[in-house]
Amino acid sequence: MESSEKKIPVHVSIIMDGNGRWARERGRERVYGHLNGVESVRAVTEESVAQGVRYLSLYAFSEENWNRPQEEVGYLMGLMMKAISDEVDNLMKNGVRFVVLGNRSRLDASLNGAIDRLMDMTRNNANLTLIVFLSYSGKWDILQAAVKMAREAAGNPSLLENLQPADFDRYLVTAGIPDPDLIIRTSGEQRISNYLLWQGAYSEFYFTDIMWPDFRKEAYRNALAEYARRDRRYGKVK
Ligand code: IPE
Ligand code: IPE
Ligand code: MG
Repeated sequence: MESSEKKIPVHVSIIMDGNGRWARERGRERVYGHLNGVESVRAVTEESVAQGVRYLSLYAFSEENWNRPQEEVGYLMGLMMKAISDEVDNLMKNGVRFVVLGNRSRLDASLNGAIDRLMDMTRNNANLTLIVFLSYSGKWDILQAAVKMAREAAGNPSLLENLQPADFDRYLVTAGIPDPDLIIRTSGEQRISNYLLWQGAYSEFYFTDIMWPDFRKEAYRNALAEYARRDRRYGKVK
C-alpha cells in the first residue's frame, strides 16, 4: 500500500538498535545510549508526520530483552515512563495516536497505568499512529493469537474451515494495523530478532550501519528515498 507518486510507505517499522555500542564508543555506560535514543524517536516521529507516513512502529523492548541485567531493564522501563510524561504535549500538538503492543502482563502496574492514560488521551489523533512494541516478540504474538483462535474454535469449529491467512490477522496484537511496508534496522545488524514474523512477510528491509542515537531526520529521509526506488512484486512478474 502506498500513494503512487512519491511512494511513501503507509507503515514504517524500526528496529532501534545500537544504543549500547554508541555509548561504549564514547566511553559511557550503555544506558547513556538509551537516553540519547529518545531524541531519535522524537525526530522520526516528527518526520513521519511531515512525510505523510500513517503508521510508525518502533521495536523498543523484546521479550528476550528481559534477560538483560536487571539494572538496564529497570533503566529502560524508567525511560519509557519518563518519555510518556514528557511527550504528551508533543503528541497532542502533532496529532499522534499512541499505542503500545506486546506482552503487557510483564510490565509493572504504574507503567501500564501511564500507558493506558496516554493511549486514551491520544485515541482520536489522526495524523499518525505511533506504535511502541514493548515486551514483544513475533513468536509470542503468533502463539497468543493461535491460543485465542483455538479457544474460539472450540465453541465454533466451522471457524477453521477454509481458514485464510487474513483471518488469522485479527488475533494478532496488530489487528487492524496494516502490515509494515518498510522495516528499518540500525547499527549494522542484519537480522529480524524475533520481531514482526507474520506481519513482515512482504516488508522491504533497509539496513544501515548508523547507530540508533545517530539516526535522525536525514538518515530517515534516506531510508524513505531508498524505499521509493524499490520494486515490490509480491511473487508476480512485471
Ligand atoms: C537497542 O540498543 C535498544 C534495545 C534493544 C532496548 P541495544 O541496547 O541493543 O544496543 P547494542 O546493540 O547493544 O549496541
Ligand atoms: C532487538 O535488538 C530488539 C530491540 C531493538 C528492541 P537486540 O539488540 O536486543 O537484538 P539482538 O540481541 O542483537 O538480536
Ligand atoms: Mg542490540
